[in-house]
Amino acid sequence: MTFKDLAKKRRSIRTFTEQSVTEEQRKQLMTVALMSPTGKNCRAWEFVIVDDREKLQLLSECKASGAQLIAGAPLAVIVAVDKEKSETWVEDASIACTMLMLQAEDMGLGSCWVEIMNRRREDGTLAEDIIREAFGMPERMGVLAVVAIGYKAQERNLQNEDRLLWDKVHINKW
Ligand SMILES: Cc1cc2nc3c(=O)[nH]c(=O)nc-3n(C[C@H](O)[C@H](O)[C@H](O)COP(=O)(O)O)c2cc1C
Repeated sequence: MTFKDLAKKRRSIRTFTEQSVTEEQRKQLMTVALMSPTGKNCRAWEFVIVDDREKLQLLSECKASGAQLIAGAPLAVIVAVDKEKSETWVEDASIACTMLMLQAEDMGLGSCWVEIMNRRREDGTLAEDIIREAFGMPERMGVLAVVAIGYKAQERNLQNEDRLLWDKVHINKW
C-alpha cells in the first residue's frame, strides 16, 4: 500500500470488535509514536496505554460528548506532553496522535482521535483534570487527546478524491 492509499483509507472508526490488540501490535504502534518529530527534539511526550475496562469506561465519560466510543474500544492511548519541557506541546502531541492513527490503519486496525484539551464534562470539570487524577499524572502534563484503537466493526468509505477542497490550496499568493 502506498502512503497515499493509507491516507485515503484512514477514517475515524467509532465501533470496534472485541478482538484484542496484540502485544506485538502495541509495540509497533508505540515504536512509531516514539519516532514522531518534536519541537527542538524535546521528545517530552508520555503515552499511557489503557486496556483496563474500568479505565476505558472512565475515559469514555471524561467529557460531555464525543468520548463514548472509548468504552467499546479494546485499547486507548492517552497522549500527553510535559508542558515544562516542550514549547510546542500541542503540536508534538498532535503529530504523535496522527502517527498512531496511520500506523493503526497500516496494521488493519481502526482508530479515532478523541480530543481532551479544553473539553469538559457536563458539570464543568475539565477532562484533563479527570484523566490526570485517575492515572496519577502530574499537573505539568498537558493531555491533548486519547486515541482509541481496535479492530473495525464498521466499514467507512475511502476519502473521496473528487471532494477534496482544492480551493484551499494557494500558489504564490492567497
Ligand atoms: C483535533 C481532532 C479532534 C477530534 N475529536 C474527536 C472527538 O472528540 N470525538 C470523535 O468522535 N471524533 C473526534 N475527531 C475525529 C473527527 O471528527 C474526524 O477526523 C473528522 O470528522 C473527519 O473524519 P475522518 O477521520 O473519518 O476522515 C477528532 C479529530 C481531530 C483531528
